[in-house]
Amino acid sequence: MQLGLIGAGNMATALARGWGDPVLVHDAYRPRAEALVAELGGEVVDSNAELAQRADVLLLAHKPAGLERVAREVGSDVKGVISILGGVRLAALRGAYGGTPVVRLIPSVPVEVGQGVTCHAIDPDADAELQAQAVALFERVGLVVDLDEGQMEIAMALASCAPAYIALVAEAQVDAGVRAGLPADIASELVAANIGGTAALLQARGMDTLAVRRMVTSPGGSTARGLSALEHAGVRAAFDDAMQAVVAG
Ligand SMILES: NC(=O)c1ccc[n+]([C@@H]2O[C@H](COP(=O)([O-])OP(=O)(O)OC[C@H]3O[C@@H](n4cnc5c(N)ncnc54)[C@H](OP(=O)(O)O)[C@@H]3O)[C@@H](O)[C@H]2O)c1
Repeated sequence: MQLGLIGAGNMATALARGWGDPVLVHDAYRPRAEALVAELGGEVVDSNAELAQRADVLLLAHKPAGLERVAREVGSDVKGVISILGGVRLAALRGAYGGTPVVRLIPSVPVEVGQGVTCHAIDPDADAELQAQAVALFERVGLVVDLDEGQMEIAMALASCAPAYIALVAEAQVDAGVRAGLPADIASELVAANIGGTAALLQARGMDTLAVRRMVTSPGGSTARGLSALEHAGVRAAFDDAMQAVVAG
């Protein structure tokens, strides 16, 4: 299957790096597409219409607001569409692309290192062949989770927004370590290794977060004091606010 990338921005680049294949790509800002081709091989094409003629399936990796305009640029030669546009529902995709088969997926940036999480909107009217191709493609760069379309925004907040949240938490921990007197490189190494290790431990323990916390928290001990400080600072409320902010659009 020849994939055509519409957009060579952050997510298209992360996906293309994860797949590692030469790309066929068009971007409104040509140097961005050229940089991707310089890195991975393949070809920059001059328009979305040409991309549609040459690709079997188009991957929509532009901003969500560009839906209608990009569909007009693509024209009638499009054979299949995979959308990763945040917040753009299947009905809107079908509206923009007429009778063309569409699949809706929302990936997360760790696809770049083969460890993404991609939410797939279940679609009873999907073209079975395109759906199978799309899911197989994203399974090459991580986990694919099937969801009812009504759950996609909540899932997106937990999966595709989360790398930014976890990066923020990591940065805050490193900064705190530096303020307390640890060199930044050592603080960074400790934090990164622990995020990966704790994720693996939680998965091994069936996501029993309480059990993992109790493994570390002796009564009256230092972790108990640290957790208490985090609770007082409102860490749970902050994540709840973040969820509400995402789903409210
Ligand atoms: N980043 C994430 O973590 C993430 C996660 C899940 C889903 N998504 C979705 O992925 C999509 C892309 O996000 P992003 O973060 O990669 O954005 P981005 O870095 O801004 O990339 C979008 C690219 O598309 C280009 N573009 C705009 N109009 C175009 C057109 N008509 N034809 C071809 N290219 C065009 C943009 O060029 P200009 O800048 O010149 O306009 C830009 O290079 C969004 O719909 C977003 O909701 C992103």
